[in-house]
Amino acid sequence: AYRSALLRFNQQGQVLYDEDGVLVIGPDATGRQVVQLAGDYGALQARLASAFPGLAVTPLPGRILAPGFVDLHIHYPQTDVIGSPADGLLPWLENYTFPHESRFGDPAYAAEVARFFLDELQRNGVTTALTFATSHPSSVDALMSEARARGLRLIAGKVLQDRHSPDGVRDETEQSLIDTETLIRKWHGVERLGYAITPRFAPTSSERQLRGAGELAAKYRDVWIQSHVAENREEIAWVHELFPQSRSYLSVYEEFGLLRERAVYAHCIHVDDADRALMRDRGAVAAVCPTSNLFLGSGFFDYAGADRVGHGYGLASDVGGGTSFSPFRTMLAAYYVGREGVAKPGLSLSPQRLWWLHTAGAAQALGLEGVIGNLQPGHEADFLVLNPAATPLLARKTAQARNLDELLFALIVLGDERVVERVAVNGAWAAPVPA
Ligand code: GUN
Ligand code: FE
Repeated sequence: AYRSALLRFNQQGQVLYDEDGVLVIGPDATGRQVVQLAGDYGALQARLASAFPGLAVTPLPGRILAPGFVDLHIHYPQTDVIGSPADGLLPWLENYTFPHESRFGDPAYAAEVARFFLDELQRNGVTTALTFATSHPSSVDALMSEARARGLRLIAGKVLQDRHSPDGVRDETEQSLIDTETLIRKWHGVERLGYAITPRFAPTSSERQLRGAGELAAKYRDVWIQSHVAENREEIAWVHELFPQSRSYLSVYEEFGLLRERAVYAHCIHVDDADRALMRDRGAVAAVCPTSNLFLGSGFFDYAGADRVGHGYGLASDVGGGTSFSPFRTMLAAYYVGREGVAKPGLSLSPQRLWWLHTAGAAQALGLEGVIGNLQPGHEADFLVLNPAATPLLARKTAQARNLDELLFALIVLGDERVVERVAVNGAWAAPVPA
């Protein structure tokens, strides 16, 4: 049990904030470490004493307990690609990303990057990520083994890309589908791990590969799907050349059975209302990647459009197109992007909404509502100890905050990994990552 300020969410996605809160963690009937009790300390004191007699309560003065962040779209093999300049998506893929990803055929290299990547997630307070590996099956093994050893809830998949890709990353159609099914059976549902069927994007998969991916998605309904869609104008023009019969880029995925619940599409920038309705009707969701979209000059996600039509979405770093592992940087970039093209006066996204989109909202987008992303009873115990006075400027700003929105905005605008003091994974403190 811990006593400190406590941040969680109600069913409507509003922040519940207890200045003097208590969080009790313990095993559920199946042995998972979950939240047993959460809320105002004074209000829960009697229940605490009767339900958990003699339980020691550790005070964490001046700290905030908050759910671990959920990153809806990231590429672990692009950890070293961050900050590579290019004239838009396609030259960036060709000149930096594909050459770098070709190195992941070496299992020792993949294992080294996997460790560094998971350390970086932890340092930044990200306790679950939906991540691309590379086209090499061993790149999935490297990441999954390391995530399993750390007790993480992580979802990953081998990239499918059997055409328009250079030697070193291009896979072979039939073998790629066999490998995908083998990896599903090997990793999906093992402890807290999940598998995602991962066609890179429509231009780099043959019709046979997309069809095979869709067949696997129909056979394994609780496996995730992840891909990219409608990120960049040149990319879209290319898709129209390759799939002239399809109404839109998104429809290509629909035609191959790749739009369903648990399908997460990165970007969704240049889409129309018919696409948004298709996402909504199929239960597919968008991973919004604002630092990537700003860095690669891809465009601005239309939150109002998504809300008007009503499909799900959440926030993501998209490292290495994205520029930071930090959810604070992503939330701030999401705020900037929300300013673009919005005719209405007032705020872009509220700080409570931004935070939700990177925790409970992202969990909901993954179909893991009630499992992760929140600190209500029954949720798995992945949580953070935040220090709102981690830097001199933050200490000043957060001390001056007169209400919850001002506090959260101060953290979003000024916060970074220094705010993330400790990380609990599956109810246990993760070993500190050396700076
Ligand atoms: N589209 C296809 N591959 C990629 C990738 O690796 N990153 C991004 N941002 N977009 C892509
Ligand atoms: Fe991406």
